[in-house]
Amino acid sequence: MATYDLVVIGTGPGGYVCAVRASQLGMKVAVVEKNATLGGTCLNVGCMPSKALLHASEMFEEAGHSFAKMGVSVSSPKLDLPAMMNFKQQGIDGNVKGVEFLMKKNKIDVLKGTGKILGTGKVEVSADGKSQTIETKNIVIATGSDIARLKGIEIDEKRIVSSTGALSLDKVPGKLLIVGAGVIGLELGSVWKRLGAEVVVVEFLDRILPGMDGEIAKQFQRILEKQGFAFKLGAKVTAVDTSGKTLKATIEPAAGGTAETLEADVVLVAIGRVPFTDALGLKEAGVALDPRGRVQIDPHFATSVKGVYAIGDVVAGPMLAHKAEDEGVAVAEIIAGQAGHVNYDVIPGVVYTTPEVSSVGKTEEELKQAGVAYTVGKFPFTANGRSKVNQTTDGFVKILADAKTDRVLGVHIIGREAGELIHEACVLMEFGGSAEDLARTCHAHPTRSEAVKEAALAVGKRAIHM
Ligand code: FAD
Ligand code: NAI
Repeated sequence: MATYDLVVIGTGPGGYVCAVRASQLGMKVAVVEKNATLGGTCLNVGCMPSKALLHASEMFEEAGHSFAKMGVSVSSPKLDLPAMMNFKQQGIDGNVKGVEFLMKKNKIDVLKGTGKILGTGKVEVSADGKSQTIETKNIVIATGSDIARLKGIEIDEKRIVSSTGALSLDKVPGKLLIVGAGVIGLELGSVWKRLGAEVVVVEFLDRILPGMDGEIAKQFQRILEKQGFAFKLGAKVTAVDTSGKTLKATIEPAAGGTAETLEADVVLVAIGRVPFTDALGLKEAGVALDPRGRVQIDPHFATSVKGVYAIGDVVAGPMLAHKAEDEGVAVAEIIAGQAGHVNYDVIPGVVYTTPEVSSVGKTEEELKQAGVAYTVGKFPFTANGRSKVNQTTDGFVKILADAKTDRVLGVHIIGREAGELIHEACVLMEFGGSAEDLARTCHAHPTRSEAVKEAALAVGKRAIHM
């Protein structure tokens, strides 16, 4: 029987990063993975394939609509969907191979099969009807999440799809109906919109992207509508009739009332994700769950069973790959006797559409609700030189700073490359920096980052270019 210092169940960004860090710290480590490939949701059916399709579809859109005005004359681009899907698959394969390489490099044993916790120090790994029991000092659960389903609407991954099916459609749907105006709905809606689909998004709430700053979300909705998105807010899909050639979705106002029917070729259900704990044997092992089915942990990622920890999508907090990764590092360091820590106040969120939306720290709504006095500094990309010459001026940067101390509490950006621009705000906030600190930092010209500096200047009502 093999004996390890640590066995990690699941090889998504939480699990594989945890394993690498533990190995760096001198532990003998194994990972258990039930899927044929390593990398979890993120690499196989999440972050990576969606970003590959977002990139490819954006190039398609640009070639068709933006090249001519720059004097680049090309004939109308033609879509070769199988080739685009192949481009996506190459991206997935490259990243999965990268994780395999990291496991070898760090001498981490990869055990293929389904992991079940038998109690402190024991994991059973089963595959192809055979099972073995592994002894280990510590166990980390990193089993991630699964799609949330709508009652009465069966996902067949062909006509009624989750994100997984929407990443692999074999033709562009004429009409795509999306349930949920969250990150998946808007990212994958963008992909298929750019490739020619008519997109309608039905959202339960009266706004898109709940949790993001309201002003940014409003502007984003306007931009998406200009791109051709249609939104039905304050509404829900209660049934989908699959009997005919075209799907017929029943839409009702969220508050109740008269239903309407919308036709669609494909319905994408993107109403969130739920923690995945199937087959782990948690109940028998005595690992407690919280009321929302997530593995319950203390501030040091420890579950209710000694020597068993949990991280990533399967525990509370934002379901983001980088949050899972940081927790993976922190828990490995804690197990090694160090002071591993994640600062949950500074976890950026990015929506990889065009323009992108990014955010870190508190929103204006959160500050209002908490009764914190704050100052706002805003700067539009229409006043940023680089954005002007590139003619990509949609959006703005918004900085929220403490009214008394000037400490930056939140930064929200909508605009091209917003997902890259946000990180100077993250570093600033990690060091407890002020808007003045940011405003006095020299930024290269001409860059879009200058808009971040100008927004910081605007907190002190002294933006230069506005
Ligand atoms: P996962 O990545 O879900 O990995 C869990 C792994 O555990 C899986 O490989 C699973 O097979 C394995 N497993 C489960 N149970 C067992 C068991 N009993 N035995 C053995 N193995 C088991 N996040 C971002 O930050 N940026 C993005 O751009 C982004 N895009 C996304 C796009 C889509 C379409 C989706 C669906 C998600 C996206 N996410 C994104 C979210 C991101 O994928 C997750 O937050 C992240 O994968 C969570 O990592 P994890 O390690 O906790 O779990
Ligand atoms: P989400 O939580 O972002 O959005 C779900 C949306 O569906 C919400 O707006 C919600 O109000 C709405 N909704 C819920 N029930 C509904 C109903 N019955 N009818 C209509 N609308 C309904 O979840 P999403 O988009 O499925 O993404 C899942 C997770 O994956 C998220 O937590 C996200 O963090 C992660 N993800 C992250 C990405 C990124 O970082 N770029 C990209 C894609 C996913």
